[in-house]
Amino acid sequence: MIKCQKINKMYTRGNTGLQVLNDVSFEIKKGEFVAITGPSGSGKSTLMHILGALDRPTSGTYLLNDKNMLELSDNELAEIRSQKIGFVFQSFNLLSRSTVLRNVMVPLLYDNNTPKEERRNKAEKALIASGLDEDRWQHLSNELSGGQMQRVAIARALVNDPDLILADEPTGNLDSKTGEVVLNTFKKLNREKGHTIILITHERYVAQHADRIIEIKDGEIVSDRSDGAVLSLKDK
Ligand SMILES: Nc1ncnc2c1ncn2[C@@H]1O[C@H](COP(=O)(O)OP(=O)(O)OP(=O)(O)O)[C@@H](O)[C@H]1O
Ligand SMILES: [Mg+2]
Repeated sequence: MIKCQKINKMYTRGNTGLQVLNDVSFEIKKGEFVAITGPSGSGKSTLMHILGALDRPTSGTYLLNDKNMLELSDNELAEIRSQKIGFVFQSFNLLSRSTVLRNVMVPLLYDNNTPKEERRNKAEKALIASGLDEDRWQHLSNELSGGQMQRVAIARALVNDPDLILADEPTGNLDSKTGEVVLNTFKKLNREKGHTIILITHERYVAQHADRIIEIKDGEIVSDRSDGAVLSLKDK
């Protein structure tokens, strides 16, 4: 599903350049649940932005479902983002004065082909999958707890039935117990609905919820493990 080859990302300001990703190569198959982990500043979010077509690498190849993402126009990338990828962030990014249901329907608002009733059905389905109790659906999103807000954000990410879910520190603002509930929601979505999930985190115990852990350090992959076994090591 995902094939990255020698992805490099350099940020330049004035005369100075900062190499944030350095020849990053890996593949992810459909249906995998992968964590990308590493210390603060190692390039995780930068990589996620590239995988999510929110940003372009400086060089390298990125194939998503065999499509070369770097050959697409900004409009084509925006379309892929809205139809194929669901995003979940550390800060839930909800519309605080809108109801839960309306928040989940936001990604469908630009879809003029889908009648209102169907949009609502899709939103309800996504909310059920997120595990948020139905008695919360008509509440304003600022009336929810952090864990409930993150479930709304997950439902919003699911509403278009995306191929890929990208979550950047989704438990960063949650206490460990609520974080656990959210992580189990991801696990369930992966196991039962087959969603491909990439979970970005700097915390080892969060990464351990995934089936495979890719570790990056200073913009390079230093290990890639499934079930504790090292799949590949750089320079090996
Ligand atoms: N737009 C930008 N312009 C310049 N430098 C940037 C930009 N975005 C990120 N960086 C730098 O790139 C490096 C990697 O940042 P990134 O956000 O990918 O790290 P991260 O692994 O997600 O860290 P954290 O765990 O703290 O979220 C950092 O040194 C950061 O300062
Ligand atoms: Mg980050």
